Amino acid sequence: MSKVLYLIVCGAAPAAYANRFVSLARDDDWDVWVITTPAARDFTDLTALEKASGHPVRDSYKRPGENDLGMPRADAVVVAPASMNTIGKWANGICDTLATGILGESLGFGVPLVALPFVSDAQAKNAAYVRNARFLQDGGVVFPVGIKRPSRVRDFPWKAALDALL
Ligand SMILES: Cc1cc2nc3c(=O)[nH]c(=O)nc-3n(C[C@H](O)[C@H](O)[C@H](O)COP(=O)(O)O)c2cc1C
Repeated sequence: MSKVLYLIVCGAAPAAYANRFVSLARDDDWDVWVITTPAARDFTDLTALEKASGHPVRDSYKRPGENDLGMPRADAVVVAPASMNTIGKWANGICDTLATGILGESLGFGVPLVALPFVSDAQAKNAAYVRNARFLQDGGVVFPVGIKRPSRVRDFPWKAALDALL
């Protein structure tokens, strides 16, 4: 049976191409479930993501009357693109969205965690961002291309996140 991978998508430009990661991961036999942050909704093509993953894309916690999220437990979690905002929330235990709630529960539980940040040069120099990213690295989160902005949008290294799970 396929292992379950959560892709958490934040509000930054590469989010528009997140379906590329879903396709790559499915080629590697991952069952991919996409969770966006609320901000990422404006950056993503939800129809393309649902088509690529074969699952609904969630961005919020249970609604009244729902018993569960209908998502299997994750064997691995990838955050890509990871925004400065979500990295900051994750490192500081803030769980105000489904995405940060999942991340908050996953740290330290042995589930492989991978982050591909997409931050501006100015954000990458912000001491709080650097501290937060380093805190996550110390906690076991793998940043396969480092904590700075890795590339231009179209060359965003989706595959590096997948390779980090091998
Ligand atoms: C056009 C646009 C581009 C943005 N690009 C980035 C970016 O590259 N990196 C980043 O961390 N935030 C970027 N932001 C800001 C985030 O979208 C914003 O901080 C948002 O609150 C992030 O929320 P999230 O972490 O919940 O997805 C951008 C915002 C806009 C409107």
